Amino acid sequence: MRLVLLGAPGSGKGTQATRLREHLQVPHISTGELLRAAVAAGTSLGLQAKAVMAAGNLVSDAIVLGMLEERLTQPDTRNGFILDGYPRNLAQANALDALLTKIDQPMDIAVQLDVDQDLLVDRLAGRAKAEGRADDSPEAVRNRLKVYEEQTAPVVDFYRNQGKLAHLDGVGSLDEVFNRILEAISPHADVG
Ligand code: AP5
Ligand code: MG
Repeated sequence: MRLVLLGAPGSGKGTQATRLREHLQVPHISTGELLRAAVAAGTSLGLQAKAVMAAGNLVSDAIVLGMLEERLTQPDTRNGFILDGYPRNLAQANALDALLTKIDQPMDIAVQLDVDQDLLVDRLAGRAKAEGRADDSPEAVRNRLKVYEEQTAPVVDFYRNQGKLAHLDGVGSLDEVFNRILEAISPHADVG
């Protein structure tokens, strides 16, 4: 099962991907987490990305695609993967499509989690207190939501045009949202 989770910052991509990973037994690949690990490790890539991320802007396509290509060629992705945080713009969506076509592993389904902006802001404010992520400040959150609308929202149409989009309500308990996702992906799932 090759699945991509789409949705604004705070829509629950990471939360649901963790559950899906257990259920589907395929890796969860989050470009945001890969980048945060590079920042924490102080690699040259991390140093380049740090300020861009803290401001809530997108890291360059070349850096992120390089990171993703490396991850997708690791053997644990052979039975599928859950992508979270990539693609972030149409250039990334096209690059991913080309890569997956080349390795003969096309995307099965794109799941979009839809959550109202006010609720997104509340959730991220909650996480800012609990976890202190550098880009959860009110200013960075405002910018991340703007970047999402301007650059990432068109990716939804990209998958809709391919007939691969499942548009879901991302509001409700963690179990409710998880069960909606399971229902949407069931035609493609080997398990569950
Ligand atoms: P990334 O890490 O991808 O962050 P994001 O898209 O902004 O999304 P979040 O991780 O904030 O939200 P989420 O949807 O995962 O929600 P979560 O489950 O945590 O990217 C960070 C940065 O890295 C980018 O800004 C960019 O700089 C860079 N980057 C990453 N990928 C890139 C790319 N491809 N290209 C260029 N740059 C890239 O939930 C949020 C909160 O809500 C949590 O506290 C959670 O507990 C809570 N919550 C979740 N579900 C529910 C629910 N149902 N009810 C109540 N609360 C809930
Ligand atoms: Mg996340």
